[in-house]
Amino acid sequence: MGNKRILKGNRLPFSRRIIESAMEIGLYPYFIPVTGEQGHRVKMNGKDTVMLGSNNYLGLTEHPEVKKAAKDAIDKFGVGCTGSRYLNGTLDIHLEMEELIADFMGAEAALMFSTGYQTNLGTIYALAGKDDYIISDQYNHASIVDGARMSRARVIVYAHNDMCSLKDVVGEIPESIGALEVTDGVFSMEGDIVKLPDIHRICRENDIMIMVDDAHGIGVIGPHGSGTAAHFGLDVDITMGTFSKSLASMGGFIVGREDLIFDIKHAARSLMFSAAPPPSNVATAMKALQILMDEPEHKDNLWKNANYLKDGLHKLGFDTGASDTPIVPVIIGDEPPTVAYWKLLLDRGVYTNPVVFPATPKDRNLLRNSVMATHTIDDLNFALDMYEEVMQEIPLDEPEG
Ligand SMILES: Cc1ncc(COP(=O)(O)O)c(C=O)c1O
Repeated sequence: MGNKRILKGNRLPFSRRIIESAMEIGLYPYFIPVTGEQGHRVKMNGKDTVMLGSNNYLGLTEHPEVKKAAKDAIDKFGVGCTGSRYLNGTLDIHLEMEELIADFMGAEAALMFSTGYQTNLGTIYALAGKDDYIISDQYNHASIVDGARMSRARVIVYAHNDMCSLKDVVGEIPESIGALEVTDGVFSMEGDIVKLPDIHRICRENDIMIMVDDAHGIGVIGPHGSGTAAHFGLDVDITMGTFSKSLASMGGFIVGREDLIFDIKHAARSLMFSAAPPPSNVATAMKALQILMDEPEHKDNLWKNANYLKDGLHKLGFDTGASDTPIVPVIIGDEPPTVAYWKLLLDRGVYTNPVVFPATPKDRNLLRNSVMATHTIDDLNFALDMYEEVMQEIPLDEPEG
């Protein structure tokens, strides 16, 4: 082939050469395989490693009853759906799960999608169109950003969890035009909780629909882990959740009023044109949800562990930002020391998520630690000891305030 028609594409802002040199010196932090069970400890690079970088908050991927439910579903339904929910892909277990979710969330109706990403894409596309506005927090998840783009609505972004900025944005929108406020419930990188009471007041006063992405709230906050709106005792129009975190599986859902869910069900392209979630995924999430409802000890352990790790990191002098949840960031600052911290921790047997620009502001690169209900005190003490060792190698400035 000639080289006249070279596609520019949408490649990353850094070049292949930078990635390859990071690989050569062992500082490439992505696609590292876990070999074997995905629990609070995993095998990585052949080494026993404390897992502080997963969204398996309740540790249910390892639960024997959850595994059995997945295997039983395979025996009963086979392995895949091979078609859209619209056509051959709706099984009775999908409908049963939707009923269970609606019941758990105290909502009129639920609708399930194949991933959380597709849930946001399809729902936002169905709710807002080219004549509408979408109001979106600066730190919202990429699936919200992509759903908003796909919808062709006018998107206005406000400063993260900043109610003055939100009010300004609301003031810019003509009163006669429809608007949808979308926000994460628990923000995925820094673990802070949305200021939902303020958002609720502002949006209700201005007749603006509210959608909360509770991917990191379900199973974690609110009564029985029913999420952010329940945590604050508020109602919102749509809550979105995913099976891929506390519920140990893969798939996504929304809950809301029956008529709204009906409309979304018949407009969401990501539901229409993609195969339904396999029965084993649904059965996994269903069993995990039943465990969440019946066995509060998992959520209690999660919080005990989260507070223990956060206290330990504070005692060592680390800045954990505005975290209010089991997502506990360690704010490092610049990118090079962040990647160095990540690598030194991994070499010592602690896996964290390096979160670097553009996923965070340039001066706020961080390591994202996420705690699990199944971490033992030994796991957490080990991680804290390793943080202390690394801090001696790379001292950081004291956090302000
Ligand atoms: C806030 C948020 N929303 C949506 C998603 C997408 O969910 P899934 O991974 O289940 O597709 C994620 C996953 O990272 C998330 O963190």
